[in-house]
Amino acid sequence: MSLIEKPPVPGPPVYGPRVPGQPGFASYIPDSAPFSPEQRDWLNGFFAGFFADYGASPPPLPAAADPAYADPMAGGEDDEAPWHDPTISLGERMGMAKGRPLRRRMMAAMAQQDCGQCGYTCEAYANEIVQHAEERLNLCVPGGKETARMLKKLIEEMGGGATDPDEERAKAEARAAARLEPKTAVERGYSREAPVEARFVSARLLNKGESEKSTWHIDFDLSDAGLDYTVGDSFGVHPKNDPALVAAVIEAIDAPADFPIAGKPLVEVLAEDMALGAAPDMLFELISYMVGGARKTKARALAQGEDPDGDASALDVLAAVRKFPGIRPDPEAFVECLDGLQPRLYSISSSPRLDPNRLSLTVDHVRYEIEGEGRARLGVASTFLSRALQPGTALKVYVQRAHDFGLPANPATPIVMVGPGTGVAPFRAFLQDRYVSQAPGDAWLFFGHQRSACDFFYEEEFAGLLAQQALTRLSLAWSRDADTPKTYVQDRMRAEGAELWAWLQRGAHFYVCGDAQRMAGDVEKAMIEIAQQHGGHDERSAKAFVADLRKSGRYQADVY
Ligand SMILES: Cc1cc2nc3c(=O)[nH]c(=O)nc-3n(C[C@H](O)[C@H](O)[C@H](O)COP(=O)(O)OP(=O)(O)OC[C@H]3O[C@@H](n4cnc5c(N)ncnc54)[C@H](O)[C@@H]3O)c2cc1C
Ligand SMILES: NC(=O)c1ccc[n+]([C@@H]2O[C@H](COP(=O)([O-])OP(=O)(O)OC[C@H]3O[C@@H](n4cnc5c(N)ncnc54)[C@H](OP(=O)(O)O)[C@@H]3O)[C@@H](O)[C@H]2O)c1
Repeated sequence: MSLIEKPPVPGPPVYGPRVPGQPGFASYIPDSAPFSPEQRDWLNGFFAGFFADYGASPPPLPAAADPAYADPMAGGEDDEAPWHDPTISLGERMGMAKGRPLRRRMMAAMAQQDCGQCGYTCEAYANEIVQHAEERLNLCVPGGKETARMLKKLIEEMGGGATDPDEERAKAEARAAARLEPKTAVERGYSREAPVEARFVSARLLNKGESEKSTWHIDFDLSDAGLDYTVGDSFGVHPKNDPALVAAVIEAIDAPADFPIAGKPLVEVLAEDMALGAAPDMLFELISYMVGGARKTKARALAQGEDPDGDASALDVLAAVRKFPGIRPDPEAFVECLDGLQPRLYSISSSPRLDPNRLSLTVDHVRYEIEGEGRARLGVASTFLSRALQPGTALKVYVQRAHDFGLPANPATPIVMVGPGTGVAPFRAFLQDRYVSQAPGDAWLFFGHQRSACDFFYEEEFAGLLAQQALTRLSLAWSRDADTPKTYVQDRMRAEGAELWAWLQRGAHFYVCGDAQRMAGDVEKAMIEIAQQHGGHDERSAKAFVADLRKSGRYQADVY
C-alpha cells in the first residue's frame, strides 16, 4: 500500500457511532491496512476513545429539509455561484452559500481557484465528495487545513441527520455504487494518480544581486517519460520533504528512523508520503491522549480548531510536537494522524516546439520565518526543486492539461499577456511557441516584479524576442525600485490603456497568470476601467464587456 494514498483515516463516524464490541461494529481500521491484530486492537481502542470523546453525535441537522441528503446532486441553480471567488474569505463564502445544496456549500469551502491540484475542478471535487466517490477531504492544496476542516464539518452534517433506517440504507447503497463504478481510466503521466518519471536536468537562479526573492529556472528531460505537452499546460511534481525537517520530526517524537511502517522505514515514509506542513487536527487529538491536565485541554482545543495560545496558524507538524515536549507517540499512530503529501503544480515555461524533450518551470522558492520560532519554514516542493537535486535524478511527475488556457488557434490573432513574478512562466512558453512557428500575430507582455536590477527574469531572452518581433511590445512594472513610485502591472495597463483598448478592438486575446488572491482581481478591475475610459462604456456595460470576453474565451486566467 502506498502511503500517499492513505487508507481512509477513520474519521468521526459519518453514519452514526460504532462502538467496539457492540453489534454492527466491524473495525475502525480498514481490512487492507497493514497492521497486526495487536496494532489493530490498539488503534480501534484509540479511535473508539477519540470518537466517544469527540462527541460522536454531531448536532442533529435538518436532513429532510436539505434535498442533498435524499439526493446529493439535487438542488437548483445557484446564481452563478457568487462564492466561487478566491478573493473572498472562507467565512464569507460559507455565509454566501448558506441555504444552498450541500454540494454547493462543499464547493464554497474550497479555495475557489479551480487550480486542478486536487485532480478536479472545485465543483467536480465537491460533487465527488457528496456522492461518496471521493473520501479524501484534504486534497485542496490552496485551501489547506481550513478547507479540510470545513469539509469534515459538512460531512458530519451529512451523517448527523441520518437516523431513518431507509435513508441510512439508501446512503449505504449510494456509497457502494460509487465505489463499484469504474473510475475513468487515467492515462499514465497525465494525472496525479498516475505519475511517470522525468529526469531533473538543472536549476538556475533567475534573480541577481541583492534580490529578496529566490526564483529558479528548472529544466527537465522528458526523453524517457513518454510525455507530450502544449503551451498553457501545467506540470505536476510529487515532492519529498526536506531531510533536515524529517530528521527533526523523528528526533522530536524520539522514534527510531528505521522503524518499519508497511515495510518502509519511518524516515522514508515521512520524507516521501506524509505532509509535514500544518499540523492536522487528528495529530492534536492523538497528543491529547498522551498528555494530561492543562496540556490535554490545550491539545483538545487545538484539535477542535481553537487557538488557546494564539499560535495555531503557525503550528506545523514539528512545532506541534515540540509544543508538547516529552511525548513519544507510537510511530504508526503518529503517521496515521498525518495528511498525505500532495503533488504541486507549476505552469510550464517552455514550448515543446523548441525541444519536445525539454520542459522548463519557473519556481519561486517559498521560505519564511515564524516570529519568535527562530526556524525558517520552507515550501516543500519549491525547496525540493531548487535545492541539491543531482542532475539525472528521476522525479515523479505528470502533465496537467490546461482547460481554457492556451494560444488562440489563429496564429495571426494578437495576444496580450499579464504575468508578474512567476506569472510570466506560461508566457515565456507562448512566446517561444510563436517564435518557432513564426506566428504573424502581435504579442504584448506586461511583466512586473520587485526590482529592475535583480528580478527581471529572462531579460536577455525577451530582448531577443523583441528584436525578432516575436514579442511586439514589453511593458515593465517595478514595485520596489528606489526613487520610483511603486508600480504594478495594472498601473502600466492603465497608463497604456488607449493602446490596450486598440489591441482588444483588433481581436486580441487577453491572458493573466500569477497571484489569484489580489493581482488577478486588480488586473480585471483595470480592464473594466480601461473599457470605461477608452471604450465609452459605463461601469455596468464595462463589466459586461469583460464578462463577454471571458465567455468567448478571449480573457483567460491561470491563477493560483
Ligand atoms: C496551476 C498552478 C500553477 C502554478 N504555477 C506556479 C509557477 O509557475 N511557479 C511557482 O513558483 N508556483 C506556481 N504555483 C504554486 C505552486 O504549485 C506551489 O503552491 C508553490 O510552489 C508553493 O509550494 P511549496 O510546496 O513550495 O510550499 P508549501 O509547502 O505548500 O508552503 C506554502 C504555504 O506556506 C504558507 N506560507 C507561505 N508564505 C508564508 C508566509 N510568508 N507566512 C506564513 N505562511 C506562509 C502558506 O500557507 C502557503 O500556502 C502554481 C500553482 C498552480 C495551482
Ligand atoms: N495566494 C498566495 O498565497 C500566493 C499568491 C501568489 C504567489 N504565491 C506564491 O508566491 C510565490 C510566487 O510569487 P511570485 O514570485 O510569483 O511573485 P510575487 O511575490 O507575488 O510578486 C510579483 C510582483 O507582483 C507584485 N504584486 C503584489 N501585489 C500585487 C497586486 N495586487 N497586483 C499586481 N502586482 C502585485 C509584487 O509587488 P510587491 O511584493 O513589491 O508588493 C511583485 O512586484 C509562489 O510560490 C506562489 O505560489 C502565493
